[in-house]
Amino acid sequence: MTAIQISNVEKRYQSLQALGGVSLSIEEGEFFGLLGPNGAGKTTLISIIAGLIRADKGTVKIHGHDVVSDFRAARRKLGVVPQELVFDPFFTVRETLRLQSGYFGLGKNDAWIDEVMHNLDLTPKADTNMRALSGGMKRRVLVAQALVHKPPVIVLDEPTAGVDVELRQTLWKFISRLNREGHTVVLTTHYLEEAQAMCKRVAMLKTGQVVAADTMAALIRRISGSQLIVHMQSGDLPEGLRHLITHPLEADSGRKYSLRINDYAEVEGILARLRESGAVIDEMQLQQADLEDIFLQIMNGGE
Ligand SMILES: Nc1ncnc2c1ncn2[C@@H]1O[C@H](COP(=O)(O)OP(=O)(O)OP(=O)(O)O)[C@@H](O)[C@H]1O
Ligand SMILES: [Mg+2]
Repeated sequence: MTAIQISNVEKRYQSLQALGGVSLSIEEGEFFGLLGPNGAGKTTLISIIAGLIRADKGTVKIHGHDVVSDFRAARRKLGVVPQELVFDPFFTVRETLRLQSGYFGLGKNDAWIDEVMHNLDLTPKADTNMRALSGGMKRRVLVAQALVHKPPVIVLDEPTAGVDVELRQTLWKFISRLNREGHTVVLTTHYLEEAQAMCKRVAMLKTGQVVAADTMAALIRRISGSQLIVHMQSGDLPEGLRHLITHPLEADSGRKYSLRINDYAEVEGILARLRESGAVIDEMQLQQADLEDIFLQIMNGGE
C-alpha cells in the first residue's frame, strides 16, 4: 500500500513559489529521506502532509485518505515531529503526552506513553514542566508526542537539529525499531551522513521542485570514482591538477582540496606531480563518494 501519495502539489506565498508541482509516492514500510537546502520547501511539504497548511493545487493522501477532505482519518495515520519547538509550558511531560493521546481519543494509553518515554530517555523528566526542559529535551517530547497514537506513518522534520550525540543514537535506535516493525518513516535532515545511514530511498528538493528521487544505492552509484583529500603544509596544487578539484576544503593552515579520481592508480601520478611542484603534504585521505557529494553535485546544477 502507498503510505503517502503526493500528487502535483503546488504552494505559493505571495510571489514566492514554495512548491512547484511536487509528486512523490512513498510506500508502506519505507525509510525515506526528504533532503534539500534551506528554503527548498521541505517543511512546507510536511505541513501540507500534516494538514497544517493547504496546497494551492494537487492532493496528498495518507494510506488512501485525503489530507483535506478526509482529514481526521489521514491525521490518525500520521505522526509528525515538527521543525519548530512548540509546546504548552504549563504541562509536565507526562501530561503533555496524555493530552495528545486524548486528541486521538485514547483514554488509557499510559503503558505506551511509558514505553515511548523510556525509549527516548525521558522517564526521569516525566513530571517536569515543559518550560523547565532544555532544548534537546523538548525535542524528545516532540518526538514522543508524534508517536503517542502509534501512527503507521512517521514524519520527522529535522529531529536531530541541535541535539546531542546521545539523543541522536537513542532516537535512531527507536525509530529504526519502529521502521523494522512496519512503520513508514520520512525524514528531513541536513546531516547527510545520518540520511545516508538510515534512508533506503531519497528525494531531493530544490526551490520547490523534486530534482532527484532514487534509492540511496543508485544515487551513490551515479558518482563514479572516489576522492583524494590532500592537505598541504606548504605549496599549492600545480595548475595541471586543478581540473580534478571537486571542492576546496576548510583547513586551519595550508591548503586542502578534494580531488576526483577514477582509479586508485591515479594517486601515484598525483603525488608525483605534487612532489615535483615542491608542495609538502601534511595529510592524505582516500574517500568513497557519499551522499554529500551527490547532494552538492545535484544542487549545484550538475543534474
Ligand atoms: N508562512 C510563510 N510565508 C511566506 N513565505 C514562507 C512561509 N513559509 C515558508 N515560506 C518560504 O517558502 C520557502 C520554503 O520554506 P520551507 O520552510 O518549506 O523550507 P525548508 O526546505 O523546510 O527549509 P529549512 O531547511 O531551512 O527548514 C522559503 O523560501 C520560505 O521563506
Ligand atoms: Mg524546514
